[in-house]
Amino acid sequence: MENWIQELYEKTTRKIEAEFERMGEKIPYITEGGRYQTDYGEKDIYWWTNGFWCGILWKMYHATGEEKYRKRAEAVERRLDKALYGFTGLHHDTGFMWLHSAVANYRLTGNQEARAKGLLAASILAGRYNPAGKFIRAWNPECVEEGEDCTGWIIVDSMMNIPLLYWASSELNDPRFYYIAKFHADTVMKTLVRPDGSSGHIACLDPDTGELLEIRGGQGYGADSCWSRGLSWILYGFALSYRYTKDQAYLDTAKRAAHYFISQCAVTGYVPPCDFRQPENPPYTDASAGLCAACGLLELSGHVKGREGEIFREQAGLLVRSIAGHCGCWDLDKDSIIQGCKVDYHGGDKQTDLIYADYFLLEAQMRMMGNDFLIW
Ligand code: GLY
Repeated sequence: MENWIQELYEKTTRKIEAEFERMGEKIPYITEGGRYQTDYGEKDIYWWTNGFWCGILWKMYHATGEEKYRKRAEAVERRLDKALYGFTGLHHDTGFMWLHSAVANYRLTGNQEARAKGLLAASILAGRYNPAGKFIRAWNPECVEEGEDCTGWIIVDSMMNIPLLYWASSELNDPRFYYIAKFHADTVMKTLVRPDGSSGHIACLDPDTGELLEIRGGQGYGADSCWSRGLSWILYGFALSYRYTKDQAYLDTAKRAAHYFISQCAVTGYVPPCDFRQPENPPYTDASAGLCAACGLLELSGHVKGREGEIFREQAGLLVRSIAGHCGCWDLDKDSIIQGCKVDYHGGDKQTDLIYADYFLLEAQMRMMGNDFLIW
């Protein structure tokens, strides 16, 4: 293994340990003044990123065997029960929330209560399936602007949530969940991935027929642009759907997204812009997109033989090394590692840190070191 990966891993885990010691049972998202001040367990228990700290904790437990990480991950998972049993604020993001918490717990410890919670979360996600349009509906009315009707909307982010359905199918030895995931992936592939490998964010479908009515820009620059984090959800999401289905069309889609992502990042020094088609100014970056894409490229490299697979691996290394170098904050007194992220292109000027950027940083390194435990 190359020295830089080992060194980066040591720096990353040292920083996570320092955060762990002062975090308590908080659920972190974004820092304020260099510290995670806001507890999302209090502010918004339904918030889609609430599982990522658990994911980090389970990876730390897997890597170190230290009980303190298991105990804390279980404590945070118990806090998420309020969302699982409260139910009304949940939407397409239940995969992000419970793959990282209850399902990870079950996979690592065999905990049966955690297994049941994972299956319940999968049932909630499956319950959002619209059989007329063959899609899993995105969001709820309170998540979109007043007057908007999102009953027929799908978004690329969903591709990272459907692995919860593949897991439930294999756990129950019942293909129902598998087919919901697969039919949804087919609809995303048809409506949101363009022939050049770029992607849109939101597709508005007729909820009674599935007919495509409109593409919207969502968190990217515009309807015809390519939001970089959205493309990373496509890249990694279709690589994962290939892992579980072996459908060649999914592998080809992930590869197309990968080639587009790589070609764009090669000209920005491997720190992606927030949108690959944004104007030159302001020069917003989104490091979280690059780290998620790196994990997707590492997943792909396991499915693609020969030199092409090696190229995906090398490109993942370039992304991780460049982003850690340009956007990493290694001060142990400050929370969060990766800076230079963007929640939403049009969401104000703020560049920020995001908890999931740190999650993907850790996952990418553990994958490169051959010591990962798969959350998805
Ligand atoms: N899932 C929402 C986002 O990527 O910001």
